[in-house]
Amino acid sequence: MSLLKGTRVTWMGHATVLIQTAKGTNILIDPFIAHNPKYPKSFNLPEKIHYILLTHGHGDHISDAAPVAAKHGSTVVAIYELAAYMAGKGVSETIGMNLGGTVQLNDCAATMVEAKHSAGAQDEQGTHYVGVATGFVLTIDDGPVLYHAGDTSLFSDMKLIADLYHPEVAMLPIGGHFTMGPSEAALAARLLAASMILPLHFGTFPPLKGTPDQLAALLDKNVYVARLEPGESL
Ligand code: NI
Ligand code: MN
Repeated sequence: MSLLKGTRVTWMGHATVLIQTAKGTNILIDPFIAHNPKYPKSFNLPEKIHYILLTHGHGDHISDAAPVAAKHGSTVVAIYELAAYMAGKGVSETIGMNLGGTVQLNDCAATMVEAKHSAGAQDEQGTHYVGVATGFVLTIDDGPVLYHAGDTSLFSDMKLIADLYHPEVAMLPIGGHFTMGPSEAALAARLLAASMILPLHFGTFPPLKGTPDQLAALLDKNVYVARLEPGESL
């Protein structure tokens, strides 16, 4: 869509999103592939994925980060403790950052913003503290401003994200149970004042019952709610 000014945003099911800028930077957010029942299995990821962004340590957001980073030569970007955890899982290039900070990733400025959610990482050794849950605002040179909320409840400081960064596209969880559902996401969309919403984190598993239609019914008609199939792009 023209709003995206040449940037391609592809939903891979659940919270996994591939961003490809007009200048050729490939960014994969929250890779959940092998155990994601909605992942488009025939989809071929780009050979080079420059950056993998992780919003928090839950398995449905990080479980494929290490193998994708190894295969596609990616640098993993996450909150400090999660970046260190991923380094311990064999990821050779990491950038640890924290809330309110911005890192420049080629032609994309990635700002880490708040989310309200738990964030422990679990493996055979138990549950590990890997920082708090986060979202990302991606400000792309000559491109759009994108917001990926990660897993979160509704919180009123989304208004600050709108005031500071003016995201044009908001990627919001809508499934409920572990995150916001459609009614909370509708108010989030209003606070964010984004013109396009890409619903995430719904339909993957039976408890994630919220639907894009339920969200759209609660929004003004001038807000576009994308109804993508996994593997489709905005
Ligand atoms: Ni989570
Ligand atoms: Mn999740």
